[in-house]
Amino acid sequence: MPQDLLRWRAEFPILERTVYLINNSLGAMPREVHEELARFAQAWEQRGVRAWHEGWWEMSVETGDLLAPILGVAPGSISMHQNVSAAAHLFFSCFDYPPERNRIVYTGLNFPSVMYVAENERRRGAEIVMVPSDDGIGVPTERLLAAIDERTRVVPVSHVLYKSAFIQDAAAIARRCREVGAILLLDVYQSAGAVPVELEAWGVDAAVGGSVKWLCGGPGAGYLWVSPRLAPRLEPAATGWQADQEPFAFRPGPIRYAEGAWRFLTGTPNIPALHSCRPGYRIIGEVGVGRIRERSLALTQRLIDAAEQAGFEVRTPREPGRRGGTVSVFHAEAERLAKELLAREVICDFRPGAGVRLSPHFYNTEEECDRAIELMAELARR
Ligand SMILES: Cc1ncc(COP(=O)(O)O)c(C=O)c1O
Repeated sequence: MPQDLLRWRAEFPILERTVYLINNSLGAMPREVHEELARFAQAWEQRGVRAWHEGWWEMSVETGDLLAPILGVAPGSISMHQNVSAAAHLFFSCFDYPPERNRIVYTGLNFPSVMYVAENERRRGAEIVMVPSDDGIGVPTERLLAAIDERTRVVPVSHVLYKSAFIQDAAAIARRCREVGAILLLDVYQSAGAVPVELEAWGVDAAVGGSVKWLCGGPGAGYLWVSPRLAPRLEPAATGWQADQEPFAFRPGPIRYAEGAWRFLTGTPNIPALHSCRPGYRIIGEVGVGRIRERSLALTQRLIDAAEQAGFEVRTPREPGRRGGTVSVFHAEAERLAKELLAREVICDFRPGAGVRLSPHFYNTEEECDRAIELMAELARR
């Protein structure tokens, strides 16, 4: 393992006790989260209600600013929310669906939650177009692009697919959306912190994601980025007093939306969650996603080679440019294998159709990857 990365292992205590290969689900907790949460408790305990005006109100947007370089966007354009589901719901509430532009286009391999939110837009007149996959691993880009046309209102798609780690061509999808006047909402939960993301350069309109995977943050810290080109035109129906230009004037309605990320806020923010995600953001920023990606490609290749050599079917793209941070190793008894690996402190998970998901981060070693596949092969023989 490269020395510059090896030193980070001490910052993630769980690595001392487990083979931690579940970073596509819950990244390892940085040691510094203890101090961050203590900072929250101290402010609450010692400053009481004054803590709101000593930083708490600003935290929703300031925490987003720590993420801005990781997503390739400007500061002041990311608002923090409970989770992807809530952020996506808020974003959809900005649109209406006249008959001539009422389609929502996404792929059958999106994360279910975003599909559920989109499906419910039918109640407000949306028509759903779901672009299918043939192999359960990816969706041909041409097929998705062909489904996006002048009738399309919103295209909510994942950048990296959660089951297979297939990387969708965000720049090509953004280009197509621009051509026909559709809005691209990219779910970057499975890419941010593992795969380079350049939302501004790709011409993406908006993005949602969360903190608990590759960003090594705690739960309750989802985010919404809206391009500064688009934000001034949007007025979310799902809103709250913190989205007003002067929340502390407590004026009666209607709301006058604030500028930038502030207009996408709702009510009182989740301060402990915002504290819990900051150490992870700082570490990912410091290590650098370019370096993380380099390491990820080497470790996922190692896992793929070892899994195939052991006779497993790999349900993740072989082509490095198409592959995110996870390797899905299929087996008829994959659910049992995942449980038995967990019981032996090899931390992974199981997803139907995908198999055992193994997802090394920059702090994992070659030996840990080898150990996971060796043990899995041994358990499969039993
Ligand atoms: C791509 C993707 N989107 C969304 C989610 C979940 O979002 P939420 O924050 O609403 O739980 C996941 C979680 O596994 C995911 O992989």
